[in-house]
Order: sequence, then structure tokens, then C-alpha cells
Amino acid sequence: MEHQIPPSPPHVLIFPLPLQGPIKCMLKLAELLCISGDIDVTFLNTQHNHRRLLQYTAVESRFSAYPQFRFQTVSDGLPDDHPRSTDRLGDLLKGLWTVTHPNFKEMLSSGSFDRPVTCVIADGALTFALDVAEEVGIPLIYFETISPCGLWTYFCVQKLIDAGEIPFQGDDLDAPIQSVPGMEDFLRRRDLPSFCRTTDLNDPIIQLAMGECRQVPRSRGLILNTFEELDRPVLSHLRSLCPNLYPVGPLHTHLVKKTRLEIESTPPQRASSDSLWQEDKSCITWLDKQPLRSVIYISIGSLAMMTMEQLVEFWHGLVNSGVQFLWVRRPNSIVGEDLAGQIEELLEATKERGCLVSWAPQEEVLAHPAIGGFLTHSGWNSTLESLMEGVPMVCWPYFVDQHVNSRFVSEVWKIGIDMKDTCDRVVIEKMIKDLMDVKGDEFRQSMDWLSKFARESLSVGGSSVCNLNRLIEDIRAMKV
Ligand code: UDX
Repeated sequence: MEHQIPPSPPHVLIFPLPLQGPIKCMLKLAELLCISGDIDVTFLNTQHNHRRLLQYTAVESRFSAYPQFRFQTVSDGLPDDHPRSTDRLGDLLKGLWTVTHPNFKEMLSSGSFDRPVTCVIADGALTFALDVAEEVGIPLIYFETISPCGLWTYFCVQKLIDAGEIPFQGDDLDAPIQSVPGMEDFLRRRDLPSFCRTTDLNDPIIQLAMGECRQVPRSRGLILNTFEELDRPVLSHLRSLCPNLYPVGPLHTHLVKKTRLEIESTPPQRASSDSLWQEDKSCITWLDKQPLRSVIYISIGSLAMMTMEQLVEFWHGLVNSGVQFLWVRRPNSIVGEDLAGQIEELLEATKERGCLVSWAPQEEVLAHPAIGGFLTHSGWNSTLESLMEGVPMVCWPYFVDQHVNSRFVSEVWKIGIDMKDTCDRVVIEKMIKDLMDVKGDEFRQSMDWLSKFARESLSVGGSSVCNLNRLIEDIRAMKV
């Protein structure tokens, strides 16, 4: 009797941009694909980030539950001792294009993976990934880890240039913007992605964003970390250019849910945080001692930086507000770290008023009952995490999509206050007080409503679950 060889399972290669936010949500997607049971997954990390991930998280033991999962690494082109800080982001981009790109091409074309790759899922910013995948004949799906509202403004950059809206004529940042369909009623110059403030249209970041928008519609589909009910109008605009959208988020909540389902008999547990820095969990013990909704959490994410002058304004604003705080001061997040000694002195003086850590278990912090507000840089992951935990925000965006996100937080979703382009102690004090006293309840109501939709989208038959299932089916149907 002839034995039939079973068909080999599909094999997805996941390739994140080597930054904290993208790695975190793409690992979550990787885990969801593993949970589907019959998809092999390889996660391609840069060597540098992989070392950090292994050092600071339990990611290896978590993924050891999935025999079909592998990590593989590639060089980011930078020496080990390079700081890879935001002010040197240009070096990272250069390394990615000059070293990672040819390595990725070599890996994909020479079959250096232990099984043939049947589908690539790459971060939308990795524009070269589509060219390589096309050359070797492997279908590619992009994953835009930035916000959909931010992405839509990226798509409109050419339109903005054609209409003469960028580069800006004059310096009125409050001038309304008319060339982003769907946002005419509330978008101002200052709400556009930070790179639109350039006077030089050849600036590498604006060129990268425009390149991304040329590549993404050519891929097999586009995964987004959102849910239909949050971003419906923007998704409908994006669908006009990328008809095959997979809004599967909020991914971090998806996984908590999956984990809960899987370990029904034990108490709910938070998914691993996948941090590239050592989490200081002592802040949770500190939070346990604080009254309900009494603490403001301050974090500017993994890339944003502030000057010493800005830090001093934040400090005065906070102290004058009288509100207790939990402040994340990420290493290398202050421009001119040589002033670090002074910073420590300043912060030491407020020790009794708050808790200072260099990296927090953010999802756990936002879920803590003592947290009443979040002063954030409006990164997309942070925005979704805050929304899902019902924590109102004061937004201080730093760059890229964050300026659009903070406008949506204040004007569209009405779940926080936008403080962009301001760093003044009086304003900070007032906004923190407003958030913690008067406006918090109003914002929490809007968030209750939105997070209810999010939870529905993650339940059986919900939009994000259906989109994830469709993505899984489409991956299963792909052949090299
Ligand atoms: C980058 C971009 O800047 C952002 O605009 C884009 O939307 C995604 O990528 P980043 O600075 O990494 O953002 O911010 P964010 O997207 O919010 O991701 C930061 C992640 O780090 C969050 O998931 C947050 O939970 C985590 N974090 C942050 C911690 O776990 N601990 C901390 O102390 C701070």
C-alpha cells in the first residue's frame, strides 16, 4: 500500500522593525499564529535585540510551548557597542538598508531556514522586504505597527505636497489641513506626522514614509493593530488603497484572552511584556499602597527623548499638581546625559511624592487600580494599552504618527488631553489636575464604550477574531 506524504504546514517568516513597539506586537501576532496549531512560525530578530529579549524576558520559555516556533537572527549592521538611541536612528536605518537587506535576501533565496518559507509578514517600514520577497517568489503581507490614523496621513503626504500644504508656508502651526480626506474638520499642521514639518522634501524620513506608501498597496494584504469599531472611517479610506486589510487588534488584549482561555483553572494572567529593558517590578508594590486612581503614570515609550529643560518643566508641573506619580526614566532618554547627576538630585528631592523606575511593566501598571492617568508620548501600543484599561491620557507626542494619535485621543475618541508642542510647568500642572479631577470621569466613559467594542471584537464572531481567522486561512492557502 502506498503511503501518502502529508503536505508540509505553511511557514510564516515574521520580520519586525528592530524597535520595542513593533517587536512587542509582532511577537503577539506570532503567538496567535502558533496557537492556530498548524502554522510554522520563524521570528527574525536582529542579533542585538534578540540578546536583550533573552536577557530581560521569559520569551524563550513562553515560546517553548510551541514546537513549530523558531527564532532566527540577522545583523542590524551596527557594532555591539553602538547606543542605538533615537538621536542615532539614522545609523540604524543605514544599517538596515546596507547590511540587513542583503542578508535577508541571502537568507530567503538560499533557503537558510529549516523549512521553506511560504509567507513573509514584515513591518511596513521595511520597504525592501517586498522587493526581496517578490524576487524569490514568496507572498508578503505587511504589518503596519503604527496607528491607522497615522498611516492614513502618511498616504496623504503626496497629496499634501501637491496641494502646497507641505512644506508649511509661514509658521502658524494651528492652520487647518484640508488634504487628508476624513480629517478636514479637526486636523491642523501641528497634528500631521512630525516629518511633515520639514522644509526639505528629500529628508530621509519623509522619503521613507512615502516609499512605505508605494510598497504597502503592492503586498498581499495589510495587518493593523486596531479593531474595526475604533477606526472605521480611517479603515474605509485605507481600504480604497489596500483592499485586503486585516484589523486584528488590540493584539495585547487578544493574547490575555487566549491565555485566560487556555489556563481556565488558574487566575487570569497578563501576557509576557516582551521588554527590551529590565522591568522594575518594585513599582507594583509601591502602587499597591496608593489609593484608588490617585497616581499619574509618566512614560515616553522606547524612543522619545526630552531635554533637561523639558524634564525640569515636567518636574515642576508634577510637583505643583500635588498628584502622586510613577515616572519611567528610560536610560538614554535625556538629551545630554552628562547632566544625569543633576537629574538624579532633582528627582531624589521628590522621592516621597512618587516612584521612579528605569523601565516599568507597563501593561500591569496601567491595569493597576491606583493609576488614574497616563502622561504619554502617544505611541500606538501605549495608546491602545491605556484605552483598554480605561486610563485617560495627557498626550505629549514626540514624533512620527504620535502627533496624529494625540489629536485623535483628544478630538475624535475624547479620551484625553493633547499637550503637544507645549512643555510648560503651568500647563502641565493644570492638565494633570484636570485629568485627575474634573475630566477623568468623562474620558473614562468614552473609554468604557470603546473598550466594550474592543472586547466584542475579540469574542467569538467579533471583527478582530474574524479578521485573524481570515488571515490564518489566507496563510494556509499560500504556496511558494
Ligand atoms: C514606536 C513609535 O514611536 C510609535 O509612534 C509607533 O506608534 C510604534 O512604535 P514606542 O516608543 O515604542 O513607539 O511606543 P509604543 O508604541 O507605545 O510602544 C512602547 C511599548 O513599550 C508599549 O507596549 C509599552 O507597554 C512598553 N513599555 C513602555 C514598557 O513595557 N515599559 C515602559 O516602561 C515603557
